[in-house]
Amino acid sequence: MDILTQNSQQTIAVIDPEKSYSYFIAQELFIEGFEIVTFDNADDCELFCKQNDINLAIVLVPQIADEIRFVRSLTNVVQADNPQQIIVLTDTINDDSLNFYRDHGLQHIMRRQDDLRLFKRLVFKLINTPISPPKKPAFNNIIGKDVSMQKVFQWVERIAQSEMATVFIRGESGTGKELIARAIHENSRNADQPFVEINCAALPDHLLESELFGYEKGAFTDAQRMKKGLLELADGGTFFLDEIGDLNVRLQVKLVKALEEKVFRRLGGTEDIRVSMRIMAATNRDVEKAVEDGHFREDLYFRLHVLSLYLPPLRERGNDLLLIADHFRNKFNDEHGCQITGFSNDAKALLLSYPWPGNVRELKNAIERAVLLGQQGEITTGFLQLGRRQQQHGGFHLQQENGTMSVSIPESGISLEAVEKALLQKSMEMAAGNKAKAARLLHLSRETLRYRLRKFNLD
Ligand SMILES: Nc1ncnc2c1ncn2[C@@H]1O[C@H](COP(=O)(O)OP(=O)(O)OP(=O)(O)O)[C@@H](O)[C@H]1O
Ligand SMILES: [Mg+2]
Repeated sequence: MDILTQNSQQTIAVIDPEKSYSYFIAQELFIEGFEIVTFDNADDCELFCKQNDINLAIVLVPQIADEIRFVRSLTNVVQADNPQQIIVLTDTINDDSLNFYRDHGLQHIMRRQDDLRLFKRLVFKLINTPISPPKKPAFNNIIGKDVSMQKVFQWVERIAQSEMATVFIRGESGTGKELIARAIHENSRNADQPFVEINCAALPDHLLESELFGYEKGAFTDAQRMKKGLLELADGGTFFLDEIGDLNVRLQVKLVKALEEKVFRRLGGTEDIRVSMRIMAATNRDVEKAVEDGHFREDLYFRLHVLSLYLPPLRERGNDLLLIADHFRNKFNDEHGCQITGFSNDAKALLLSYPWPGNVRELKNAIERAVLLGQQGEITTGFLQLGRRQQQHGGFHLQQENGTMSVSIPESGISLEAVEKALLQKSMEMAAGNKAKAARLLHLSRETLRYRLRKFNLD
């Protein structure tokens, strides 16, 4: 059972034994302001209905089920005295079942995503109450006038209001997933509580595990003191698991258990630690495929998919691109003391025609470079070096496998300083700005790291 709570008088139960479509419906109704409870079996729903009032039940009939028998078993459960408050969704239809629905006063509708408007209208008709609009949240520095982003903001508003619902943020690299995760937290009731994040791709497994769950003194050789895990530190607030698609399967199992039971133990510990927080996760990977391939556990997938939020790629946001470009122009003018006045028409056309595989982050970098190159006046196409992302890394590749390092150097050569600088930058990025961690990643002392950061103006 999953509950999407909000300040609503109206509760809708969604029953979906296949768990196939309910989350989609739950989201769509949640954003309209209803409280949603989803079930994957009738028994749980029955239990719930004994203790809680629901205003409407939506039943998703499994494709293989004996339709009528299945629906009948549920109508016994759900508000038997008020049968018209049930909507049945099926993939197929025959005369027998149509007659059954009609005779029992049930509403029937085919389950097709393009019928959504019709479906929602039916829900509103049956429930027959206006829903309160959410309070206007603040979106500092998130730019988006395009309808696709306005829809995202509408979502963020609703999600922020929902109590602790889990949120799965999807979207290509650089589309603003982390930014949105923070915005949800900042607009939520728990905004004054901690926002704790971990990047599952940035740490080796054993470190990730001890970061997540913490450890007791003596749990392993280096454990000289007890250390709280991030899950514990996020208690009451939000825990953001970034790049969750990169989490290995063993930790996925452990995590699902902790998320489900809201209880875990520190490594080497025997005491149960109880926590309550909002979980958010993000990935730019195709997790559906990863589930199919067995790299991502289905139970974790469902646990995260209570609410999902998709950020469209920048190339699909129309004119937002130029608005965001202008935002960064101002920002980097200020930061670097430049006076860039705008973009030439050619430059605008170029910006609009480029596909932006790295999305907003790539745009941000491109504008910063252009501002620094131009210093003043208009940015023309000559200042926009698009599609040469590898230049940021100095054009070299480093790979480590089984403890041996292999390096490839481009034909044009490479400056050793550029390599050092890139490694410093990367380690700081992986350590989320924490110098002690970055130093550990490079096997340097903190002092040495500080010295080198200063040398490259990176601190
Ligand atoms: N709509 C927006 N308006 C202004 N700035 C944005 C917007 N979206 C993203 N950014 C900026 O773009 C950069 C990338 O955003 P963010 O780190 O949130 O992306 P991401 O989706 O988490 O990327 P990744 O998949 O690589 O982790 C950040 O500097 C962020 O502030
Ligand atoms: Mg991110």
